[in-house]
Amino acid sequence: MKTIKTTFFDAKPYDRETFNAVAGGSGVELKYFAGHLSADTVQVAAGAEAVCIFVNDAVTREVADVLYAQGVRLIALRCAGYNNVDLKAVYQRLHVVRVPAYSPYAVAEHAVALLLTLNRKTHKAYFRTRDGNFAINGLLGFDLHGKTAGVVGTGKIGRVMAGILRGFGMRVLAFDPFPDAAFAQASGCTYADLPALYRESDVITLHCPLTPENVRMINADSIAQMKKGVVIINTGRGKLIDSLALIGGLKSGQVGAAGLDVYEEETEYFFEDFSAAGIDDDVLARLMTFPNVLITSHQAFFTREAMTNIAQTTLDNIRGFFDRGELPHEICYRCGEATCQRKASGKCF
Ligand code: NAI
Repeated sequence: MKTIKTTFFDAKPYDRETFNAVAGGSGVELKYFAGHLSADTVQVAAGAEAVCIFVNDAVTREVADVLYAQGVRLIALRCAGYNNVDLKAVYQRLHVVRVPAYSPYAVAEHAVALLLTLNRKTHKAYFRTRDGNFAINGLLGFDLHGKTAGVVGTGKIGRVMAGILRGFGMRVLAFDPFPDAAFAQASGCTYADLPALYRESDVITLHCPLTPENVRMINADSIAQMKKGVVIINTGRGKLIDSLALIGGLKSGQVGAAGLDVYEEETEYFFEDFSAAGIDDDVLARLMTFPNVLITSHQAFFTREAMTNIAQTTLDNIRGFFDRGELPHEICYRCGEATCQRKASGKCF
């Protein structure tokens, strides 16, 4: 079996543990590098045929040029989202594969954890009772049962989320540019346009990819259309929300709470320890001062099951391309669609 040299960026101890457990005997030789992929670090991929990257590794044109010149032919994303790759820059030079699904349950369950924590304030109760404070002042929540949830994006994760919320007895409104009537009927959800979803939802949860069309879709204008006290949950991508507008909404009370697993400028901070250094990002720092904001560090995917699936699919993606030229999980570098059926024929658009 041919050995495939792969440079692994943004490697954390848990990545090494999972990938080492799965990679044994695969012939994929992983060289772990702790830093992010960027124009400053791309040189460490010299000699590799593939790079394995994560959500905050940036493939800009400059990075793509160097990767290609150094002999890299495959970028294997170990995540579903691919907004961090300049697809025009890799066109006809580097193939880009991803892990389209590893556990929609992991992400949806984390979104629910954010919602339940914010609503019932268990994060505060935890510290109170440990401190011998058994008062419940300020911990008042509301029944989810009978309320309306707006699910933006009814792909794999949004569907699981909708099912959980229906299980709570919520009415679920959904928005997706490609509505699936069969899913709506089977799950008891109702598709609506965004203005109606904003107007009627007590909870809004984002499960769509970041695209040029929906950058900062949650902004001052859309927040103004929402119900007063709306709870916003974002496990999608940080740039779906205009953070300054969110801060405005939180200050006025228009937004009742926000659960954020992603943040628009997360690249520098998320997955790293800044507890001693402090945080220079004033917007992030301001968000963290609100008692009704819960930020987690892009950890929604982080379950044992998801990590194992990610490692297995990534290694299969790498072997499949170099052994057989197969790219079942390729992102079409012409149209940017992960689901493009025409890319193999070269007849995309
Ligand atoms: P998916 O591809 O199965 O579904 C995405 C859905 O969003 C599709 O139905 C699509 O039609 C819809 N969509 C596209 N543009 C939209 C728009 N402008 N408005 C509303 N819906 C739109 O993707 P999946 O697996 O459900 O993941 C969704 C997103 O969740 C990913 O793109 C990624 O950004 C994020 N994610 C976050 C993770 C985390 O750890 N926080 C982990 C995995 C994914």
